[in-house]
Amino acid sequence: MTERTHKTIEQAEQEGKYIRKVRSFVKREGRLTNAQARALEEHWSTMGLNHSDGVIDAGVLFNNNNPVVLEIGFGMGKSLVEMAKNSPELNYIGVEVHKPGVGACIALAKEQEVDNLKVYEHDAIEVLADCIPDASLTTVQLFFPDPWHKKKHHKRRIVSLEFVENIRQKLKVGGVFHMATDWENYAECMLEDMNNSQGYQNLSETNDYVPRPDSRPLTKFENRGQNLGHGVWDLQFKRID
Ligand SMILES: C[S@@+](CC[C@H](N)C(=O)[O-])C[C@H]1O[C@@H](n2cnc3c(N)ncnc32)[C@H](O)[C@@H]1O
Repeated sequence: MTERTHKTIEQAEQEGKYIRKVRSFVKREGRLTNAQARALEEHWSTMGLNHSDGVIDAGVLFNNNNPVVLEIGFGMGKSLVEMAKNSPELNYIGVEVHKPGVGACIALAKEQEVDNLKVYEHDAIEVLADCIPDASLTTVQLFFPDPWHKKKHHKRRIVSLEFVENIRQKLKVGGVFHMATDWENYAECMLEDMNNSQGYQNLSETNDYVPRPDSRPLTKFENRGQNLGHGVWDLQFKRID
């Protein structure tokens, strides 16, 4: 770490900002399509949320007191928009670092006339720490996080004991943390971290995984994987204190 970076992190930490040192993503500056760029330009002011604005009040943002679902790493947003459309009685907040994905999600939400969804283009770890009030979420969803296959890269995986404890703090008591992965070793690590974490109850009847709930749309990618005989593991844990 250079001295300059070190000073910046120290200064930010002194100002009370959470700075993350190992990230779960590598920023790919993929090109935006015209439709994605237009969606970001035209609708960011109504659908976009900025990390720099700090702690949110969802009641004010959505103009209602509906329960709030947070999705981390929504990719291109297809399943997030579908879920938001299917559940107008809930408010959805998506967090994604990949700009083209954020643009695609906004474009699709507008096309589908979904208005119970807002999005951050930012690292979810920092959004959780700096923007989401404690005990405010009814559900947190994390679907197919980057598995970082190689052992030397496992430290980049977003799920860790610290992460699942942070999620519990942001959930209301009774709220649910839902994860899904198609990588068995990651599923086992998720289960281990959840079992080692206090204050959660596993919703699985077999004390491990749950069948895919109808609320989680089957993705094209997942469908293809299943046809090839690949597994998918869903985990659902309830905050109990
Ligand atoms: C393998 S993709 C899965 C996308 C989507 N959930 C799906 O099932 O198709 C993982 C996504 O998580 C995003 N991501 C990784 N780390 C993140 C972080 N710390 N904050 C926000 N998004 C993140 C990546 O940019 C990527 O789009």
